[in-house]
Parts: sequence; C-alpha cells; structure tokens
Amino acid sequence: MKICLLPGDGIGPEIMAEAVRVLRALDLDCTMEEALLGGGAVDATGDPYPEATQRLAQAADAVLLGAVGGPQWDALPRALRPERGLLAIRQQLGLFANLRPAILYPELANASTLKSEVVAGLDILIVRELTGDIYFGQPRGIETRDVDGRQERFGFNTMHYSESEIRRILRVAFEAARKRSGRLCSVDKMNVLETTQLWRDVAIETAADYPDVVLSHMLVDNAAMQLVRNPKQFDVIVTGNMFGDILSDEAAMLTGSIGMLPSASLDANNKGMYEPCHGSAPDIAGQGIANPLATILSAAMMLRYTFARHDAAQRIENAVKKVLGQGYRTADIHEPGMRQVGTREMGDAVLAALQVECVN
Ligand code: NAD
Ligand code: IPM
Ligand code: MN
Repeated sequence: MKICLLPGDGIGPEIMAEAVRVLRALDLDCTMEEALLGGGAVDATGDPYPEATQRLAQAADAVLLGAVGGPQWDALPRALRPERGLLAIRQQLGLFANLRPAILYPELANASTLKSEVVAGLDILIVRELTGDIYFGQPRGIETRDVDGRQERFGFNTMHYSESEIRRILRVAFEAARKRSGRLCSVDKMNVLETTQLWRDVAIETAADYPDVVLSHMLVDNAAMQLVRNPKQFDVIVTGNMFGDILSDEAAMLTGSIGMLPSASLDANNKGMYEPCHGSAPDIAGQGIANPLATILSAAMMLRYTFARHDAAQRIENAVKKVLGQGYRTADIHEPGMRQVGTREMGDAVLAALQVECVN
C-alpha cells in the first residue's frame, strides 16, 4: 500500500498528523510519503500542484489530503490559488466520484443544531460528481466588455455535462443505492438549466438497468430545504459538482459538525483521494483545537475503498464511536458535561481506543 500524504494548509497538518498516527498504529504494511499541495506549495515552489507532488500522487495507490487554502493566498491569480491545486489533482487523477457519507453518531444527537429527533439515526450518502460542471467548464474568466454601450467588467463561467460524464456518476450512485436501502434521489435544476435537464434524462435512462432501485428526482432548492426539514427521507443523493459541494456542507451540520464528515474521491478503478469535506479553517488554525475525526474517518474510507481492508477500516470506525461514547469532544462538537479536548488529545483517545500504544 503506497499512500501519498498531502497535509496542505491551515489545520491540514494538524488533523493529518492524527490520521497518520492512527494508520501507523494499525501496523499495516504501508508506506507513506508526504508532499506539498496548496498554499504551502505555492510559497515553496510557485505552483499549487508541483511536479514532485504530481509524480508521488500518480505513483501512489491512494492519496490522503488534509485541506488547502487560506486568506493569505486569496489575492493570487486564479491559476496559483491553493484551490486550483486541489482541482488539478482531482482532474489529473480522474477522481470523478466523490462519496460523502453523512452519518450521525448517536452520541452526537445533541451536537447538531437541529432537533435530535430530526437527525437521530441519520445515515445518508451524497454522491457528488467531482470533475465536471461549472467548476471546469470553458470559457471562463473576467473581462472588460461592452455592455449596453458601456465598457465594464464581465464575469462568466460555463456549466456543462456530457452524457457519459453523467452516466458514469449515476452508475456509481445506483450501485451504492443497491447496496443500501435501494432508494436514490437525483438532485437537479431541470426547470431552469439545460445541463440538468440532460442530467435528469440520463438518470431516467440509467434507471432501466437498476430495476431494484427506486429513483426519485428533486430540484436543488427544494433539496436544500428538505435536508433540514426531514433529512431522513433521503438515503443516497446524487448530484453535480456545484450542487453537491453546497448540499454536502449542509448535510455535514446534520451530523453535528463539518469536522465529522469524511469523503472519498474515486476514479473508475477505486484509486482514490481521501479528504475531510471541510476546509483549512483559517479561523482556528494553529490552535490545536480542530476536530481530526473527519480526516481519521477519511483514512478509514481509504482502507475500505482502495485497499479493501474492511477489518482495519472497521477498527478505526469502532474506535471513533468509542471515544465519542467516552465523552471526548473537540470544541466544534462540545456540549456541557462532556470532556473537551484538543486535536492531539482526540488523536490520543482514538489511539487508546484502538488499544495500542501511543505513537508520538
Ligand atoms: P472551512 O471548512 O475551512 O471552515 C468553515 C467553518 O468550519 C470554520 O468556522 C471552521 O473553523 C470550521 N471547521 C472546519 N473544519 C473544522 C474542523 N475539522 N474542526 C473544527 N471546526 C472546523 O471553510 P471556509 O472557511 O469557507 O474556507 C477556508 C479555506 O479552506 C478557503 O481557502 C477554502 O477555499 C478552503 N477549502 C478547502 C477545502 C479542501 O481543501 N478540501 C474544502 C473547503 C474549503
Ligand atoms: C470541497 C471544497 C472544494 C470544492 C474547493 C476548496 C475547491 O469546497 O472539497 O468541498 O469546492 O470542491
Ligand atoms: Mn466544499
């Protein structure tokens, strides 16, 4: 197992350190090598996704990522932005299928801002297309143009999807739904946008191959509302890159905190990059208080999806459940009566729950 580690920026290195300790403690036969991505990479090499990182990521079986970005890089030209590095690696490795499981651990029922009965037992999977849509569409830019006889700045992006791009992500979602409750909700905006009319048409066509899955459709604005009104009506949600980005952050809050939501970004052969859904959290970076559980759970997804080490993945997931049961809480999921800890202590607790010695 060759794993490429990309800690990134902000809280990235803090949460990555804990995931790496957990992986080491499992005594797997794996090699882990670290490289630069994002703002740190721009500072060191002038490139958010440097050549050396590209070589390492391409040679690895899986990539584990912390997070990238931060206000100090916000004024850079777009091609040099940290986020550009993340988009480039997703595109280069062909990671079109982003799985974002939003599971509420019963211990965190009160950590959500929603009533506990609304979220209790929540277990949904958002399948987000990750290498297409308005994120990658050309042409794009900001130009000075003639608008009604005036010269002014004009910003533009292009939203597009090909039939084959839609079909392959839908297949991933149908397969996932088949293994779960057999319900799939496809989210689009077909009442306004042609690309998503095509999305809906292809979803209906693809459904013919999955007679055991019940397909429903929902417009994205309603889906955003339904996710907080009655999230348990959903099992698997499939949607495009942009809508999936937004809906998954919304779903994160159903689980108590964005610090709890892991993700897997997969290619057609289950090579993958694994990353928490959250960002580099500049507001709390350097304080040692970030929640490392989304990254630790992303490492578990890596063991499950790329390496088929379901045993080891299950051990990590059990350990996370155990520490929550023991009352360990980082600030983002803290409630009165619980034991508030920092990033490192949460890592220590997970290691202890794995019943192994602390690796420092
Ligand atoms: P963010 O996810 O970084 O933070 C949003 C809020 O959630 C903040 O209050 C933050 O403190 C909190 N939060 C996030 N992760 C947490 C954790 N593990 N534990 C506790 N609290 C946590 O989103 P943002 O503030 O909009 O973006 C900050 C930077 O991160 C931007 O540069 C953005 O582009 C980048 N970003 C990167 C990724 C990624 O690398 N995958 C994802 C999203 C945003
Ligand atoms: C995410 C992030 C990224 C995205 C950004 C940082 C490019 O928000 O992984 O959800 O929009 O995909
Ligand atoms: Mn996002």
